[in-house]
Amino acid sequence: MPTISVVNDKGGVGKTVTAINLGAAIALKGKTILLVDLDPQTSATASLGLNGKMPSVALPDVLLGVGDLSKAVVASKWERLHVVPGSPRMKDVNLALASKIGRERVLQSKVATVRGKYDFVLIDCPPSVSILTLNAIVASDFVLIPVIPDFLSVNGLVELQSILKEVEQALRVHPKILGIVPTVVDYRTAITSEVLQLLRSTYKSLVTKTEIRVNVKLREAPGFGQTIFAYDPQSTGAENYRALAEEVLQRCRKNHA
Ligand SMILES: Nc1ncnc2c1ncn2[C@@H]1O[C@H](COP(=O)(O)OP(=O)(O)OP(=O)(O)O)[C@@H](O)[C@H]1O
Ligand SMILES: [Mg+2]
Repeated sequence: MPTISVVNDKGGVGKTVTAINLGAAIALKGKTILLVDLDPQTSATASLGLNGKMPSVALPDVLLGVGDLSKAVVASKWERLHVVPGSPRMKDVNLALASKIGRERVLQSKVATVRGKYDFVLIDCPPSVSILTLNAIVASDFVLIPVIPDFLSVNGLVELQSILKEVEQALRVHPKILGIVPTVVDYRTAITSEVLQLLRSTYKSLVTKTEIRVNVKLREAPGFGQTIFAYDPQSTGAENYRALAEEVLQRCRKNHA
């Protein structure tokens, strides 16, 4: 059961859109998915129309010691796609964990209890290097890094890589970068091809072949609580996320997870 965190400390790079639509695409391929919304903004939960849906125990309480992660799971409208809804109270969890021993390993131990029930666990992370994000990285076999092809975002990757190295050394975990995913790719702007070229020549095979193009349908779907496959299965967005799912499955197989 590979666990994959969708991580980038930079905000608005398509982490949530990627987490929900990649999860949905993999579920459509017959795998069972648990999507964990770790972000206090609860965007993944809202995007899937699950804001009003209460699990028997909320994620913040699970992380603070009340019950197993399975108690925090709800079904979605889609077969095989289960969700641990987020909560604004995750901000408090971030603070509460700060003074705890083993604070970076809480999610890892909770995810371990659902091992076997799911083919994949996907974690949507907040846009910061907080204790929550560190928990996600520690709990993960892989990290997937969405990046918008502009110079500042690509520069930010150096910092993110050094954070991952630090986590690896300090906490003795070995999450691999499964892929750097170009998102919100707009070929109409001249800078895009230039930055994509730079990204590919710097990070080589770490960059996924799949590029997620800018597509208004991806922006509209969350307003209807729908995945891109329910909202517009013929859209470029749906096509791109189907391709990404295929590539992610291949990369997981190659890395034996
Ligand atoms: N391929 C795309 N085409 C068009 N719009 C997109 C695309 N991907 C993401 N967006 C839009 O860009 C915005 C940011 O996307 P998203 O919320 O997924 O980013 P994020 O990295 O999760 O943000 P945050 O860091 O705040 O959690 C959203 O309005 C989303 O609808
Ligand atoms: Mg997000």
